[in-house]
Amino acid sequence: MIVQKAEIVKEGTTECLVFKKKISKKGPGSKDNEPFYNPSMESNRDLSIVVNQWFVNNCKKHACLLDGLGASGIRGIRLANEIDGDFAVTINDWNEQAFSLIKKNLELNKLENVIDSNKNLNVLLLENKYHYIDIDPFGSPARFVDSAIRSIYNNGIIACTATDTAPLCGIYPNVCWRRYGARSFHSYVMHEIGLRILLGFICREAAKYDKGIEPIVSYSADYYFRVYVKIRNGKDYANESMENFSVISPKESFIFSDNNEHDIGPLWLGKLHNKTAIKEIRTLLFKKELNTKNSLWKLLSLFEEEANAPSFFYITDDFASSLKMATPKLKKIFEKLTSRGYEVFRTHFSPTGFKTNAYLDEIKKVFKENMI
Ligand SMILES: C[S@@+](CC[C@H](N)C(=O)[O-])C[C@H]1O[C@@H](n2cnc3c(N)ncnc32)[C@H](O)[C@@H]1O
Repeated sequence: MIVQKAEIVKEGTTECLVFKKKISKKGPGSKDNEPFYNPSMESNRDLSIVVNQWFVNNCKKHACLLDGLGASGIRGIRLANEIDGDFAVTINDWNEQAFSLIKKNLELNKLENVIDSNKNLNVLLLENKYHYIDIDPFGSPARFVDSAIRSIYNNGIIACTATDTAPLCGIYPNVCWRRYGARSFHSYVMHEIGLRILLGFICREAAKYDKGIEPIVSYSADYYFRVYVKIRNGKDYANESMENFSVISPKESFIFSDNNEHDIGPLWLGKLHNKTAIKEIRTLLFKKELNTKNSLWKLLSLFEEEANAPSFFYITDDFASSLKMATPKLKKIFEKLTSRGYEVFRTHFSPTGFKTNAYLDEIKKVFKENMI
């Protein structure tokens, strides 16, 4: 049993009571049943404010938003407090302590556009429909995705956090295989593979119900993955999405050739972001009071740049060392490849990474020119 005093924190313009520290690891709460506040997720929550503002602005009807795994409720409380428009938020958590904290936070913030709920998220999703569903668990969101896809309205958004990066990044490939039905791959490109496995899983789950997916924003941060995926009803959308669902043979590319014999995936090989949406979301940042505004601005500009980039990337240092040469400046690589008519993009996965449509031989040539 967790015996703990709640403390007030402020994120954005919202004050919330939260449980800050873990006192006991024992008791009925397994890790998944503990309503603790994680300060390092502030930027994750800040981004959900602007994405939801964009979504509500574009939703032509009253929007039903769900914070499905609320803990203190800070995410949902912030949505209710910090975004404008015609919407209501449901905040749910099956844990009794979490539920009573959510209720206290509703009183503290004097919110009226919020419904509290104390159910198993899967049950709630089978009983109700929503336009936006946020799934922010400890670990994997996999066990909630099927019911979220059934529950979401056409053109609604499912947002998922996955903190089970070790399975998704190939450290525990068997766990990934069980959970997501995909083979992960531990390598420098593991974060992009992990993110794409998560998207591929959502794509596959949606297709069962003749629904397709369109990733709006997808990213890898310190120790988690986060995706915002639009769900579109219709078998044509499902078929179109499934064209992006495939395995990769390690023989296909230099990027995967490092001691790997097995196919990787299946995973999502389509776009990670919607460029137009990201531009609009980025402009909304100016209108909000957010502590992580500056870092989000930079992150969103990287997403915007890589939105139309090919899948996977090279890292300058690794590429140079495979050619047994010193590392050239990223700027030079961009100039050289662009001057030869290729597209080159920065990527949020690595500060020294780049994505390009140039063939491997061309990249090697460019590296070998004297560019230091
Ligand atoms: C990581 S915390 C949520 C953090 C919160 N979204 C935030 O931003 O601070 C996960 C929460 O999910 C709740 N939970 C786990 N499984 C659940 C289920 N099946 N139904 C409802 N709540 C659940 C736990 O009680 C815990 O409070």
